[in-house]
Amino acid sequence: MLIRNETASDIRAISHLVTEALRMLAQSTGTEAGIVERLRAEGALALSLVAEDEGRVVGYLAASPAWIGDQKGWGLIGPLAVLPSRHRQGIGTALMAEALRRLRTTCKGAALVGDPAYYVRFGFQAFPGVSVAGCPPEVVQALPFDGIEPHGELIHHPAFGLDQRV
Ligand SMILES: CC(C)(COP(=O)(O)OP(=O)(O)OC[C@H]1O[C@@H](n2cnc3c(N)ncnc32)[C@H](O)[C@@H]1OP(=O)(O)O)[C@@H](O)C(=O)NCCC(=O)NCCS
Repeated sequence: MLIRNETASDIRAISHLVTEALRMLAQSTGTEAGIVERLRAEGALALSLVAEDEGRVVGYLAASPAWIGDQKGWGLIGPLAVLPSRHRQGIGTALMAEALRRLRTTCKGAALVGDPAYYVRFGFQAFPGVSVAGCPPEVVQALPFDGIEPHGELIHHPAFGLDQRV
Protein backbone atom coordinates (compact mmCIF):
# COMPACT_ATOMS: atom_id res chain seq x y z
CA MET A 1 0.00 0.00 0.00
CA LEU A 2 1.18 3.48 -0.89
CA ILE A 3 0.35 6.76 0.91
CA ARG A 4 0.74 9.65 -1.51
CA ASN A 5 -0.59 13.09 -2.46
CA GLU A 6 -3.78 13.17 -4.49
CA THR A 7 -3.56 13.72 -8.22
CA ALA A 8 -6.25 15.08 -10.52
CA SER A 9 -7.19 11.56 -11.58
CA ASP A 10 -8.05 10.60 -7.96
CA ILE A 11 -10.70 13.27 -7.47
CA ARG A 12 -13.77 11.25 -8.42
CA ALA A 13 -12.60 8.26 -6.41
CA ILE A 14 -11.99 10.47 -3.38
CA SER A 15 -15.52 11.91 -3.48
CA HIS A 16 -16.99 8.42 -3.83
CA LEU A 17 -14.87 6.99 -1.02
CA VAL A 18 -15.61 9.83 1.40
CA THR A 19 -19.35 9.52 0.75
CA GLU A 20 -19.33 5.72 1.16
CA ALA A 21 -17.21 5.66 4.32
CA LEU A 22 -18.89 8.54 6.10
CA ARG A 23 -22.35 7.16 5.34
CA MET A 24 -21.67 4.69 8.17
CA LEU A 25 -21.43 7.47 10.77
CA ALA A 26 -24.58 8.48 12.62
CA GLN A 27 -23.39 12.09 12.69
CA SER A 28 -22.64 12.17 8.94
CA THR A 29 -24.27 15.06 7.13
CA GLY A 30 -23.74 13.69 3.64
CA THR A 31 -21.86 16.89 2.80
CA GLU A 32 -18.33 15.67 3.51
CA ALA A 33 -17.33 15.07 -0.12
CA GLY A 34 -18.56 18.58 -0.93
CA ILE A 35 -16.42 19.99 1.87
CA VAL A 36 -13.32 18.37 0.35
CA GLU A 37 -14.25 19.73 -3.07
CA ARG A 38 -14.65 23.24 -1.68
CA LEU A 39 -11.38 23.05 0.27
CA ARG A 40 -9.67 21.98 -2.96
CA ALA A 41 -11.29 24.73 -5.00
CA GLU A 42 -10.18 27.34 -2.47
CA GLY A 43 -6.61 26.08 -2.27
CA ALA A 44 -7.12 25.08 1.38
CA LEU A 45 -6.14 21.43 1.23
CA ALA A 46 -2.95 21.59 3.27
CA LEU A 47 -2.84 17.81 2.90
CA SER A 48 -4.83 15.60 0.57
CA LEU A 49 -3.46 12.10 1.03
CA VAL A 50 -4.70 8.94 -0.60
CA ALA A 51 -3.95 5.36 0.33
CA GLU A 52 -3.55 3.39 -2.89
CA ASP A 53 -3.57 -0.36 -3.06
CA GLU A 54 -3.25 -2.27 -6.31
CA GLY A 55 -4.11 0.89 -8.23
CA ARG A 56 -7.26 1.60 -6.23
CA VAL A 57 -7.90 4.47 -3.80
CA VAL A 58 -8.83 2.71 -0.53
CA GLY A 59 -8.35 5.52 1.98
CA TYR A 60 -8.28 9.29 2.18
CA LEU A 61 -7.23 12.03 4.62
CA ALA A 62 -7.61 15.78 4.27
CA ALA A 63 -6.06 18.52 6.39
CA SER A 64 -6.78 22.23 6.23
CA PRO A 65 -5.61 25.35 8.05
CA ALA A 66 -7.36 26.09 11.34
CA TRP A 67 -7.16 28.31 14.39
CA ILE A 68 -7.56 27.51 18.06
CA GLY A 69 -8.66 30.68 19.79
CA ASP A 70 -6.38 33.43 18.53
CA GLN A 71 -3.65 31.00 17.47
CA LYS A 72 -3.29 30.24 13.80
CA GLY A 73 -1.06 27.46 12.48
CA TRP A 74 -3.16 24.42 13.37
CA GLY A 75 -3.78 21.58 10.90
CA LEU A 76 -7.38 20.40 11.00
CA ILE A 77 -7.58 16.74 10.06
CA GLY A 78 -10.75 15.58 8.37
CA PRO A 79 -12.33 13.90 6.78
CA LEU A 80 -10.45 10.65 7.32
CA ALA A 81 -12.13 7.81 5.50
CA VAL A 82 -11.34 4.22 4.59
CA LEU A 83 -13.33 2.11 2.16
CA PRO A 84 -15.73 0.06 4.34
CA SER A 85 -14.55 -3.24 2.85
CA ARG A 86 -10.97 -2.37 3.90
CA HIS A 87 -11.50 -1.38 7.54
CA ARG A 88 -9.18 -2.72 10.27
CA GLN A 89 -6.26 -3.27 7.95
CA GLY A 90 -4.17 -0.38 9.24
CA ILE A 91 -5.06 2.02 6.41
CA GLY A 92 -6.45 4.75 8.69
CA THR A 93 -3.40 4.44 10.93
CA ALA A 94 -1.00 4.71 7.98
CA LEU A 95 -2.77 7.82 6.66
CA MET A 96 -2.74 9.43 10.09
CA ALA A 97 0.94 8.62 10.69
CA GLU A 98 1.93 10.26 7.41
CA ALA A 99 -0.32 13.27 8.03
CA LEU A 100 1.16 13.87 11.48
CA ARG A 101 4.69 13.43 10.16
CA ARG A 102 4.06 16.14 7.56
CA LEU A 103 2.06 18.50 9.78
CA ARG A 104 4.85 18.46 12.38
CA THR A 105 7.07 20.27 9.91
CA THR A 106 4.55 23.02 9.14
CA CYS A 107 2.06 23.38 11.99
CA LYS A 108 1.77 24.19 15.67
CA GLY A 109 -0.33 21.08 16.13
CA ALA A 110 -3.13 18.95 14.71
CA ALA A 111 -6.78 19.10 15.67
CA LEU A 112 -9.95 17.26 14.74
CA VAL A 113 -13.52 16.45 15.64
CA GLY A 114 -14.09 12.71 15.97
CA ASP A 115 -14.49 9.65 18.13
CA PRO A 116 -11.94 9.88 20.99
CA ALA A 117 -11.88 6.09 21.25
CA TYR A 118 -10.16 6.00 17.87
CA TYR A 119 -7.99 9.13 18.00
CA VAL A 120 -6.48 8.67 21.46
CA ARG A 121 -4.07 6.12 19.96
CA PHE A 122 -2.45 8.90 17.92
CA GLY A 123 -2.02 11.18 20.94
CA PHE A 124 -5.09 13.37 20.47
CA GLN A 125 -6.93 14.55 23.55
CA ALA A 126 -9.73 16.90 24.51
CA PHE A 127 -8.65 20.06 26.34
CA PRO A 128 -10.91 22.05 28.66
CA GLY A 129 -11.86 25.20 26.81
CA VAL A 130 -11.15 23.88 23.31
CA SER A 131 -14.55 23.71 21.72
CA VAL A 132 -16.68 23.74 18.61
CA ALA A 133 -20.19 25.17 19.04
CA GLY A 134 -22.76 22.39 19.00
CA CYS A 135 -20.24 19.54 19.50
CA PRO A 136 -19.85 17.51 22.70
CA PRO A 137 -16.54 18.61 24.28
CA GLU A 138 -14.98 15.13 24.24
CA VAL A 139 -15.05 14.88 20.44
CA VAL A 140 -13.06 18.10 19.94
CA GLN A 141 -9.43 17.01 20.18
CA ALA A 142 -5.99 18.45 19.64
CA LEU A 143 -2.40 17.30 19.50
CA PRO A 144 -0.09 20.29 20.21
CA PHE A 145 3.34 19.45 18.83
CA ASP A 146 5.03 21.74 21.38
CA GLY A 147 3.04 20.25 24.27
CA ILE A 148 1.55 23.64 25.15
CA GLU A 149 -2.11 23.34 26.09
CA PRO A 150 -4.35 25.14 23.57
CA HIS A 151 -7.31 27.31 24.58
CA GLY A 152 -10.28 28.56 22.65
CA GLU A 153 -12.63 27.70 19.86
CA LEU A 154 -11.37 25.35 17.15
CA ILE A 155 -12.09 27.37 14.04
CA HIS A 156 -12.46 25.41 10.83
CA HIS A 157 -12.09 26.69 7.28
CA PRO A 158 -15.41 28.18 6.02
CA ALA A 159 -15.77 25.18 3.66
CA PHE A 160 -17.01 23.22 6.69
CA GLY A 161 -20.02 25.53 6.90
CA LEU A 162 -19.80 25.89 10.68
CA ASP A 163 -20.64 29.58 10.78
CA GLN A 164 -17.56 30.49 12.82
CA ARG A 165 -15.51 33.64 13.12
CA VAL A 166 -12.55 33.55 10.71
C1 LIG B 1 -12.30 5.39 11.42
C2 LIG B 1 -11.60 4.76 10.19
C3 LIG B 1 -10.97 5.88 9.38
C4 LIG B 1 -10.54 3.80 10.70
O1 LIG B 1 -9.82 3.30 9.59
P1 LIG B 1 -9.20 1.83 9.59
O2 LIG B 1 -8.29 1.72 8.42
O3 LIG B 1 -10.29 0.83 9.71
O4 LIG B 1 -8.37 1.87 10.94
P2 LIG B 1 -7.10 1.03 11.32
O5 LIG B 1 -7.14 -0.30 10.65
O6 LIG B 1 -5.89 1.85 11.12
O7 LIG B 1 -7.34 0.88 12.88
C5 LIG B 1 -8.32 0.00 13.24
C6 LIG B 1 -8.44 0.04 14.73
O8 LIG B 1 -9.21 1.17 15.10
C7 LIG B 1 -10.39 0.73 15.74
N1 LIG B 1 -11.46 1.65 15.39
C8 LIG B 1 -11.93 1.96 14.18
N2 LIG B 1 -12.92 2.86 14.32
C9 LIG B 1 -13.04 3.10 15.64
C10 LIG B 1 -13.88 3.93 16.41
N3 LIG B 1 -14.81 4.73 15.87
N4 LIG B 1 -13.72 3.90 17.74
C11 LIG B 1 -12.80 3.13 18.32
N5 LIG B 1 -11.95 2.32 17.64
C12 LIG B 1 -12.10 2.33 16.32
C13 LIG B 1 -10.62 -0.66 15.25
O9 LIG B 1 -11.41 -1.38 16.17
C14 LIG B 1 -9.20 -1.19 15.19
O10 LIG B 1 -8.74 -1.51 16.48
P3 LIG B 1 -7.74 -2.73 16.69
O11 LIG B 1 -6.52 -2.41 15.88
O12 LIG B 1 -7.50 -2.71 18.16
O13 LIG B 1 -8.47 -3.91 16.19
C15 LIG B 1 -12.58 3.95 9.33
O14 LIG B 1 -13.22 3.02 10.16
C16 LIG B 1 -13.64 4.78 8.63
O15 LIG B 1 -13.44 5.25 7.52
N6 LIG B 1 -14.81 4.93 9.28
C17 LIG B 1 -15.90 5.68 8.73
C18 LIG B 1 -15.56 7.14 8.67
C19 LIG B 1 -15.07 7.68 9.96
O16 LIG B 1 -15.52 7.30 11.04
N7 LIG B 1 -14.13 8.64 9.86
C20 LIG B 1 -13.56 9.27 11.00
C21 LIG B 1 -14.34 10.45 11.42
S1 LIG B 1 -14.21 11.79 10.26
